[in-house]
Amino acid sequence: MTDFIPAIIVHGGAGPIRDDSLPARLDGCKAAALAGWSILQAGGAALDAVEAAVVVLEDNPLFNAGTGSTLNSLGKVEMDAAIMESDALRAGAVAAVSGIKNPIMLARRVMEDGHHVMLACEGALLFARQIGFPECTPESLIVEREKKRWENTHGTVGCVAVDANGKLAVATSTGGIFNKLPGRVGDSPLLGCGTYANSFGAVSCTGHGEAIMRILMARDTVQLLQNGIEPGEAARMALENLAELTDSTGGLILIDRYGKIGYARNTTHMPVCIVSDSAKFTLDS
Ligand code: GLY
Repeated sequence: MTDFIPAIIVHGGAGPIRDDSLPARLDGCKAAALAGWSILQAGGAALDAVEAAVVVLEDNPLFNAGTGSTLNSLGKVEMDAAIMESDALRAGAVAAVSGIKNPIMLARRVMEDGHHVMLACEGALLFARQIGFPECTPESLIVEREKKRWENTHGTVGCVAVDANGKLAVATSTGGIFNKLPGRVGDSPLLGCGTYANSFGAVSCTGHGEAIMRILMARDTVQLLQNGIEPGEAARMALENLAELTDSTGGLILIDRYGKIGYARNTTHMPVCIVSDSAKFTLDS
C-alpha cells in the first residue's frame, strides 16, 4: 500500500543560538533531513529515516547530541536517546550513556532486542558489548567549544517522519543540559515526555527536560491530534501549556497520521528542516 505521501521534519534544538552559527545549524538540519528523505523516497521505513537523520545530527559537532554533547558537572558527556514507531508502539531508549558515538543507534538496538525499552549508564554499555556494538572513547565526543564553555548548549536533536505505508516514527537524541549532575536523565529518552509516536502522530520535543517531563509534553501533544486538532495548532497549544504550567521554554516538531507537519517554539531559535513529497525543503529558525 502506498497511499501516503512521505514527509520528514528535523530540529536542531530550541534555545538561544548565536546568529553566526545559525546558517551552519540550518545546513546541518538540511543534511539530516535529506539523509532521512532519501530513505523515504526509495520506499524505506520512517523508522530507518528518523534514525539516519539523527545519526547525521549526532555526528555534527555543532549540535548537542553525540559528538559535541554538552558536559556534565564532572566535565563528562552523558547522553540520552529514544526511538519509537507508531506500529505496535515499538520503542527503545538509552539514558546517561557515554562511550557511544551514536546513542540513537544503540536505542534502536534496544528496541530490536525487545527485552526492555530503556537501558541506562553502565547497563547500556554492557548491552552494547554483549551485542558487539562499537564503542568509542568518551573523550572523542568532547569538542573544543564545550571545553571552553563558550556556548551554554541545552539543545537536543530530533526527527519525525511518515513513510509511504503511513507508518510514523520519531527519534530524539541529546547531550542533556550543561553542568547537569552525573546520572541526570532528561525528557528525551522518556516515552511520552520528549519522544512519542502512535497511530495518531509522532512528536519530538526540545527544551528544559525537567519541565517537559512533568507535563508529558509529547504524549499530551499526540492526544491533541487524537482530539482532531491540526498539527500546527497542537504544537502551539503544547508550548502554551509548557509556559503556563512550568514557566519554561522549548520547542517541538510533529507529524499527524495524515502526514501533516507542525512545529513551534517559544525560544528565540529552533532550526528546522522539512522535506515532503515535492522534494522541496523548507528551512526555518
Ligand atoms: N531536552 C533535553 C534535556 O533536557 O535533556
